[in-house]
Amino acid sequence: MTDEIIKGTKTALVFGGSRGIGAAAVKRLVEDGFAVAFTYVSRPDRAVALVQEIETTGGKVRAIHADSADPQAIRDAVAKAVDAFGPLDAVVVNAGILRLGTVDAVSLEDLEMMLTVNVRGVFLSIQAAVPHIRDGGRVITIGSNVAIRTGFAGSSVYQFTKGAVAAMVKGIALDLAPRRITVNNIQPGPTETDITSDMLDMLSERSPLKRVADTSEIAGVVSYLAGPESSYMTGASLTIDGGYTL
Ligand SMILES: NC(=O)c1ccc[n+]([C@@H]2O[C@H](COP(=O)([O-])OP(=O)(O)OC[C@H]3O[C@@H](n4cnc5c(N)ncnc54)[C@H](OP(=O)(O)O)[C@@H]3O)[C@@H](O)[C@H]2O)c1
Repeated sequence: MTDEIIKGTKTALVFGGSRGIGAAAVKRLVEDGFAVAFTYVSRPDRAVALVQEIETTGGKVRAIHADSADPQAIRDAVAKAVDAFGPLDAVVVNAGILRLGTVDAVSLEDLEMMLTVNVRGVFLSIQAAVPHIRDGGRVITIGSNVAIRTGFAGSSVYQFTKGAVAAMVKGIALDLAPRRITVNNIQPGPTETDITSDMLDMLSERSPLKRVADTSEIAGVVSYLAGPESSYMTGASLTIDGGYTL
């Protein structure tokens, strides 16, 4: 546990925090007492609205435009976050994209974009943040339960990018263990966000609990992994999917 977590002055950086699961994580971390910087790329309107919502409640928050496909933008985002709130106690790498296509049809552009954002972007975000994470801090990635079971034709690329994230956290967890920084991956199942907005009925029907997740339920796991009670967990992938992959 970092000294700052003990004192209650904590800082977090969420990559991809303007909408969906990332925005829920930002809000939950603010509720937990973190000052939170978050990145966005395509929706400044949503980023501004989230900042206004949080500042109304007295929370400390900062929105940073940074494309996770751009290595320099990632490094600049870390620098801006640290400049705003100081060294980091928790880093959440949530930014991710879904493009569907069967193996015979998936385009080179879609393949490269998913690899660039969902795999390279995750690694580079962690790499850029590491020198600024306090000893005893937290790294949390948002993978997907599709790393376990895809269930749909047309999602092979998305699946293996999320499998790569689950594998990545194990090696990075070992790298950062000497500094007591834990590195864990959350694997949500279908969750109500812009990504799933046109498939909610079908996804609910397929779920044993007959519903998709609310983003706050995923944010609850972020809160646990960012907090003191998860201090002995590292290199793990936690699946929260209503039994979808059983
Ligand atoms: N929803 C689900 O059912 C589900 C299930 C399992 C896993 N996941 C994973 O959870 C994560 C969030 O998904 P979501 O459903 O909340 O998606 P979403 O509603 O589409 O939100 C995506 C967030 O990531 C940001 N983002 C996307 N590409 C980015 C980039 N290149 N650089 C910086 N930020 C970027 C977006 O910023 P802008 O607002 O600026 O575009 C937005 O804040 C993803 O990694 C996704 O794969 C989702």
